Amino acid sequence: MFVSRFYRLGSHSVQRLVKAPVFRRPLVQPAIYHQYLHTLRGIGYQREKLFSTASSKLDSDEGNETEQKINVTFVDKDGEEMNIKVPVGMSMLEAAHENDLDLEGACEASLACSTCHVIVMDVSQYNKIPDPTDEENDMLDLAFGLTETSRLGCQIIATPELDGIRLAIPSATRNFAVDGFKPKPH
Ligand code: FES
Repeated sequence: MFVSRFYRLGSHSVQRLVKAPVFRRPLVQPAIYHQYLHTLRGIGYQREKLFSTASSKLDSDEGNETEQKINVTFVDKDGEEMNIKVPVGMSMLEAAHENDLDLEGACEASLACSTCHVIVMDVSQYNKIPDPTDEENDMLDLAFGLTETSRLGCQIIATPELDGIRLAIPSATRNFAVDGFKPKPH
């Protein structure tokens, strides 16, 4: 906007100077005037090119974002299936919450509970998920009904490779850390 105003004001001023009758001759020689206009037009062109490139990049980024969703099926404790679309980059816990699914996530993904425990129903899909960290494994050890393909939902991030993944929500959760339960010594 600044460059555009500068261009308009600049060219207008030069036009007035060229036509000024004050000394009965142009204050600015026409050749210099045209050179000046040429330079200003060049600045205007560069500005438009810059902004149009930025805006088309934004459009294409937005387009990618809307395209980049994967299909995820949650199976609840009663065996009922819910198919949802999950944007790439979103965790399965966030996706479950956005779709009002019954997956708790008591510690809000800070790896201090196991209430976001899910079971990946297909081993080949399970193997596509990056290995759990030690912190996730520690929490998984506390999970109710742990299986070979158990993961924490807050740690499974949607990627294109996980398209079609099926996740079972266990029938119960156990939450020592957040509920404050401490086992009594025998
Ligand atoms: Fe607590 Fe995932 S929400 S570990």
